[in-house]
Amino acid sequence: MAKDFATMENSNPSGNLSIQDVSDPVRRIVLRGGFGAAAGALFAPLAAVSLPGCASPAGGGPLLGFTGVPASTTDAVAVPDGYVAEVIAAWGEPVGLAHGMPPFKPDASHSAAEQAAQMGMHHDGIHYVALGASGRGLLVMNHEYTDDGLLHADGMATWNADKVMKSQAAHGVSVIEVEFRRGRWQMVRPSRFARRITAATPMALGGPAAGHALMRTAADPEGRQILGTLNNCGSGLTPWGTVLTCEENFVGYFHGPQQPDAHGARWGLRPAGYGYRWHEHDARFDATLHPNEPNRFGWIVELDPMDPNATPVKRTALGRAAHEGATVAVTRDGRAVVYSGEDARFEYIYKFVSRDSIAAGGARANNTLLDHGTLYVARFDADGTGRWSALVHGQGPLTAANGFADQGEVLIKSRQASDLLGATKMDRPEWIAVDAARGEVYCTLTNNSHRGTDKGRPVDAANPRAHNTMGHIIRWKEDGDFDGTGFRWNHFVLAGDPANSRDDVKGNVNGDAFASPDGLWMDARGVLWIQTDMSTSAMGRGDLPRLGNNMMLAADVATGEIRRFLTGPVGCEVAGVTTTPDLRTMFVNIQHPGEGAGRSDPTQPGRFSTWPDGHGRPRSATVVIRRHDGGIVGT
Ligand code: FEO
Ligand code: CA
Ligand code: CA
Repeated sequence: MAKDFATMENSNPSGNLSIQDVSDPVRRIVLRGGFGAAAGALFAPLAAVSLPGCASPAGGGPLLGFTGVPASTTDAVAVPDGYVAEVIAAWGEPVGLAHGMPPFKPDASHSAAEQAAQMGMHHDGIHYVALGASGRGLLVMNHEYTDDGLLHADGMATWNADKVMKSQAAHGVSVIEVEFRRGRWQMVRPSRFARRITAATPMALGGPAAGHALMRTAADPEGRQILGTLNNCGSGLTPWGTVLTCEENFVGYFHGPQQPDAHGARWGLRPAGYGYRWHEHDARFDATLHPNEPNRFGWIVELDPMDPNATPVKRTALGRAAHEGATVAVTRDGRAVVYSGEDARFEYIYKFVSRDSIAAGGARANNTLLDHGTLYVARFDADGTGRWSALVHGQGPLTAANGFADQGEVLIKSRQASDLLGATKMDRPEWIAVDAARGEVYCTLTNNSHRGTDKGRPVDAANPRAHNTMGHIIRWKEDGDFDGTGFRWNHFVLAGDPANSRDDVKGNVNGDAFASPDGLWMDARGVLWIQTDMSTSAMGRGDLPRLGNNMMLAADVATGEIRRFLTGPVGCEVAGVTTTPDLRTMFVNIQHPGEGAGRSDPTQPGRFSTWPDGHGRPRSATVVIRRHDGGIVGT
């Protein structure tokens, strides 16, 4: 369904005070003073890192060297002068499976089987994996959800099992091979690496919740084999070469009971979910019949992009949540730390620290690394410090007496465990970026219009604005190493537009105005790329009248400057960014161009946007960005 923020999840009624009642007004004033005031006091500057072959701050010259683009309402992608943007891999393009490369049919009459061999809908998190020499690699990208008004020739006017299968086939992940050939990047088809992972692909389970009683269903009495992944939003690349894809708003696919039990209610289970109607022809999505099936989603899934036959594994040790993304840092002794935000109103930020160090030898040598370790949830205190509380069975309140029989149940019920641990309820944590050179971590908090307006959920130091329509980016530095259990934090930026009249939505951006930060990624030069997801229903009105379409900006975290690099077509969200190792090619995903206030009308598919084709159905796609002179993107 189209992203309707009015119906989005808001399922945390817990009474954990965390810091909500002890917000420090003095500190908030400091934070509102802008980046310089906050940053200087809290983080001692570290030497900037120098990267081979790359311009760097230490190498002289500014980090950001392009001329920013203005806000836009046109149905096109705009990039700075001196750059070229080309489209590849739109929804419906064949991914390049040797046994079938069905072309896209502009009237969307292609079948479920054809869709399973084509790019899915609604491109999201993306990573580039180099294949040997430069100029050839894999793109691994998520397909978050479907607009079934566009996916089928007649939309949802009729509904049947084939449409459910097609919708499931348009979800998941694509692995495609790309090559720079004859002056432009192109898909390689067929490719032995090409793969579609969908909402029906067999998956394994790893970690403490594998085989748990709460994971067992009639179709899988052992609780160890699951069909599919869905609502794959952000993703992360591991140092051992695998990709972590995340299951975000999974609960919306399930038909729940009128009166869900406490567990179902805490996860937002409701009748008909978000209207995908899968349960009408695929009974496992009817949670009134299969109450444990929702427990089998909401995980971080690890896949090996180099092996199209490898079974993806849901890594339960990393906890169950509406995972926006997963970003990996490495401790000095070589252990993996996975950061993940849970994008729902008043939900939490997590990190997982592996027990063992990363082994040499790639994916196979580390195929159980993420099954053993400790999951933590964040608490941000008003004095600018914070702490990570471990989600470990038997510790503190996480006992059988409080409803947690074992570690598996703690992980399946991560939200309830975090409630008891007094974690800080955040304004919809989205992507997390790691600045390994400075040892800092950044997290987008996209917005939360219910903050300070819902009873019992006031502003706090970390989420300081009531009716937060603009969002902010918080950052922290762990005590010691990335496995530290304490940290210091501040706000990198409060998003906003200084032309607004309401003080709370002016923000403190040093540079170009924006709202609703979502995608976030730091490139190898240390540029922090920020992507926005202002909702269609809010765009151009309310607090956002001058911000235009969604966009991508570049930030210099040392100076705090933020400059607009790209604007997207009408109704899109900008979602996912990656580069080649030489930083001379950037891949950016444009998601749901033309999205309106609900599912699209199949009789007017191009009503709001016809990007990128200029006619017919709008299609999510990947934009390839290069400098005309072949230089490093962003300089
Ligand atoms: Fe899928 Fe939170 O964006
Ligand atoms: Ca997102
Ligand atoms: Ca979002």
